[in-house]
Amino acid sequence: SNDLVSVDQFNNEEVMAFIKLAQKFKAGKTIQLERPSYAMNLFFENSTRTHTSFEMAERRLGMQVIPFDPKTSSVTKGESLLDTLKTVQAIGVDLAVIRHPHDRYYEPLVEANLSMSLINAGDGSGQHPSQSLLDMMTIYEEFGHFDGLKIAIIGDLAHSRVARSNMELLTQLGATVYFSGPKVWYNADFAAYGDYLPIDELVGSMDVMMLLRVQHERLDESSDETFDAEAYHQQYGLTMARGAQMKPNAIIMHPAPVNRGVELASDLVEAPQSRIFQQMTNGVFIRMAMISNVLVHQGLLQPTQLED
Ligand code: CP
Repeated sequence: SNDLVSVDQFNNEEVMAFIKLAQKFKAGKTIQLERPSYAMNLFFENSTRTHTSFEMAERRLGMQVIPFDPKTSSVTKGESLLDTLKTVQAIGVDLAVIRHPHDRYYEPLVEANLSMSLINAGDGSGQHPSQSLLDMMTIYEEFGHFDGLKIAIIGDLAHSRVARSNMELLTQLGATVYFSGPKVWYNADFAAYGDYLPIDELVGSMDVMMLLRVQHERLDESSDETFDAEAYHQQYGLTMARGAQMKPNAIIMHPAPVNRGVELASDLVEAPQSRIFQQMTNGVFIRMAMISNVLVHQGLLQPTQLED
């Protein structure tokens, strides 16, 4: 299939190929498409980074971007996602990048075997493959390998497609994953990939402290009403004091948006150990690598264009 919907699709060689190609784009590589090609970004959930960086990536690759606004589309009249895609494909869209609140929304779309390509920009609490690849790129840029790295994923695990995608790729690549945050958010899905430890037992020995946003929009009403930001920060967050205990070469990551002063102290967002803005920059280049791969499968880009 042309579609990139889950990190389950990527073996280590493919992850490294995405990273290496993204590094070439970061160094200034350009490509020439076979014909004018059209992308549409269908975001049924809010986004700043993923939406903007997919559009930046599409434009940098020379694609034309056709706007789509779910609120003014015929989805509001009951048109299904599959019928929406069949429609925009008939109109000439070659690539659909989709974010949707339903886990695995993409399954019937992939089964429909459309001639256009699909890239999943996040499904509910399921997968976020482009975020995961940009995280792998950022870690690889920092350490030059994954083998034996110790990486703590901390926070709102239960709701996090980033945690699910990253625990899979990181363990597959040879890193050791640990989890922390409120234990109620650590379940059997995570136990298969790494142990749970309180943050104070992890912070001094990790290579990467990866914080996750508390997803208020996915918490039930009573949990959200009783949520105490300061108590969370003190018990589970990367406070300034904990930041000072990190190994000298360890880094801080967060997919963002950040709840400053909750998952991590506000001053740590711009601290020298933080790679949060580098993650965003890398997101453009990894998405260029993902898109150019699907364009090759579609015959819209000659494979030789990706070779040097
Ligand atoms: N990290 C991330 O997916 O951010 P957005 O929701 O702003 O796209």
